[in-house]
Amino acid sequence: MEKIMKITGLYWSATGNTKTLVNFLGKALAEALQLPYTEVDFTPKSARERNYTFSSSDLLIVGAPTYAGKLPNKILPDFQDRLKGDGTRTIALVTFGNRSFDNSLAELTYLLSTNNFLPIGGACFACRHAFSDKLAGGRPDENDLNEAKDFAERILAKLTNTLSEDQQFSERMKKPILAVKGDPFAPYYIPKGKDGNPARFLKAKPKTNEDLCDNCGICATVCPMASISTENVSEINGICIKCQACVRSCPKGAKYFDDQAFLSHVAMLEENYCDRKENEFFL
Ligand SMILES: Cc1cc2nc3c(=O)[nH]c(=O)nc-3n(C[C@H](O)[C@H](O)[C@H](O)COP(=O)(O)O)c2cc1C
Ligand code: SF4
Ligand code: SF4
Repeated sequence: MEKIMKITGLYWSATGNTKTLVNFLGKALAEALQLPYTEVDFTPKSARERNYTFSSSDLLIVGAPTYAGKLPNKILPDFQDRLKGDGTRTIALVTFGNRSFDNSLAELTYLLSTNNFLPIGGACFACRHAFSDKLAGGRPDENDLNEAKDFAERILAKLTNTLSEDQQFSERMKKPILAVKGDPFAPYYIPKGKDGNPARFLKAKPKTNEDLCDNCGICATVCPMASISTENVSEINGICIKCQACVRSCPKGAKYFDDQAFLSHVAMLEENYCDRKENEFFL
């Protein structure tokens, strides 16, 4: 098995949770192995228009959030088309907003395997939900980072002790060496409203309180879909995936959603998913 020469953390992260955890894990591994660490922010549209290739001497951490129980569907094609491995040892990391990661880790692991990456570990972290502070607000917290540290140690042990045997087995069996929870082919979770019926907010877009907005342009810069007009930030010219990057980054609190179905879904989540959820790890 080729020696690892460098470590890369690549993430799609609209509101920063996934970025925090990928970088934390990547830096912990780089420090332990005394290797350089490189960060790739795959969030902006421009970053997803390039290809990224990795070799068998790379160790990669790939992170994404859970949207409707899977990977964000508008970003999935970029993960599929832009990342290529060459037997690259990879850790798949997903975050979720205290409901469930459902099938996102399974989908990410499957996708990585089909692009010639070799998934060696999987992590699912409960984090502040992009929609509400009442759902895992304040996470990742110290406890989560300690768990990430433990996970890094277990990854290191796996790399040094058992990987070559595991890999030989995997190559013989033509199977990924990592079994994770979930089904990569399962359908998306259907968001429910307070009445328990499906909440249909696919077309919802953020509004702008023009009395508060000072046209700083931050929201247009952070929108991962490049959908907010730079000339007039009240205009949404493209797809809105409800990621909340614009809402969360606006220094004036001027961006908001008032779509009733969306608000009803958030209220349902706040009513049912406030208890602390555990992180889960797969090796
Ligand atoms: C459109 C959308 C759908 C989401 N769907 C789920 C979900 O199905 N289950 C869940 O627990 N969290 C869900 N979340 C919460 C995110 O997974 C969570 O906030 C994540 O940590 C965001 O990552 P980021 O900060 O890196 O963008 C959703 C968030 C958004 C914006
Ligand atoms: S970030 Fe807020 S204040 Fe700045 S342009 Fe956007 S809406 Fe206006
Ligand atoms: S406009 Fe939609 S896609 Fe763009 S940052 Fe705001 S919530 Fe995300």
